[in-house]
Amino acid sequence: MLNFEYRNPVKILFGKGQISKIGKEIPADARILMTYGGGSIKRNGVYDQVRSALAGRSFAEFGGIEPNPRYETLMKAVEIVRAEKIDFLLAVGGGSVLDGTKFIAAAAPFQGDPWDIVLKKAPVTSAVPLGTVLTLPATGSEMNNCAVISHAARQEKLPFASDLVYPQFSVLDPETTFSLPPRQISNGIVDAFVHVMEQYLTFPADAPLQDRLAEAILLTLIEEGPKTLAEPRNYEARANFMWCATMALNGLIGQGVPQDWATHMIGHEITALCGLDHGQTLAIVLPALLEVQRERKKAKLLQYAERVWGITSGTEEERMAEAIRRTREFFERVGVPTRLSAYGVAPAAVCSIPERLERRGWVALGESGEVTPAVVNRVLAVAA
Ligand code: NZQ
Ligand code: ZN
Repeated sequence: MLNFEYRNPVKILFGKGQISKIGKEIPADARILMTYGGGSIKRNGVYDQVRSALAGRSFAEFGGIEPNPRYETLMKAVEIVRAEKIDFLLAVGGGSVLDGTKFIAAAAPFQGDPWDIVLKKAPVTSAVPLGTVLTLPATGSEMNNCAVISHAARQEKLPFASDLVYPQFSVLDPETTFSLPPRQISNGIVDAFVHVMEQYLTFPADAPLQDRLAEAILLTLIEEGPKTLAEPRNYEARANFMWCATMALNGLIGQGVPQDWATHMIGHEITALCGLDHGQTLAIVLPALLEVQRERKKAKLLQYAERVWGITSGTEEERMAEAIRRTREFFERVGVPTRLSAYGVAPAAVCSIPERLERRGWVALGESGEVTPAVVNRVLAVAA
């Protein structure tokens, strides 16, 4: 096992009716800015629940944070935070609202061009404290220190991380997710699944606990994912899915083990260029990447085949191929196509990706740095 330091400070308030408790989690004299997306929270009652939990408090609002949150939009909120001396941010929505709010939190006190936080990984030395009410299980943003921000004018989508943007608390009430359209549930299942795979399907590190935690999340997603899609108002299924998504990317399963993340980096490029949903890009890239990298990932791929899919017979080649086939079939079964062509994306639309990565100096992605631009090219060819 590799050395690690781990501290996750996020307080989770899980379950029905937990939004009513947020008043106690935010300092009494705070000047609060509530951030949200395109309006789903006004239609499903979450906005009203938040308002009544904060009745009588100093409270401003900023709506309109779009999926794949844009720097341009977020900077408008930064101006409000600065002008109104906001000292607490409350993000209410999906991963995009949470990520966007993390950026606002870091950008408001930042000296210089805040895009540098994302582009140049400029150190974040101060951030406005934030809390979240999550309405879409998928990203894990509610319990981690990362955010992914898009710059529309530059056609870029890039991550940043800082311990200062961990939420102080996150409310996870599965009932707030009953209004989600099937497409977002489907995306969320794939996103959570791939988060686990990025931290698990690498090479053995003598970390059987991390392996079994990862396998537990994958097996639970395989069980509960289709159930929560078929029965959108089944509270238990939704609660189990929601907790899986949080556990998939709150840092725990990735401690002390190598991590990949090439699928995410390639996926972000596809979103930046073609606008596909995050989950859709992952469903396209992961099976193709496993195919191309199967020899290097052999030991874990065989373990995954056996422990997650119960594949015990056949040659090593056959077992690996079957595990990749089952993975692809699972994504398709939960409603997310796994080929670029299924979204009408021609190979020409993504052919600049290896070069874009190279220009950024990202020439050695993956757990061993073996995913070069040439390998990315092969992955995109398999994904066509
Ligand atoms: O904007 P509103 O009106 O709220 O509608 C949203 C949006 O259109 C809707 N929605 C959310 N909750 C709803 C709802 N509709 C009905 N009922 C509800 N309860 O869903 C749509 C998609 O929302 P979005 O927040 O974009 O989805 P998601 O949570 O999948 O977030 C995706 C973003 O997170 C980033 C992705 O790259 C992408 O930008 N990621 C963040 C990570 C992190 N912070 O650690 C890791 C991930 O790998 C990922 O990269
Ligand atoms: Zn993701």
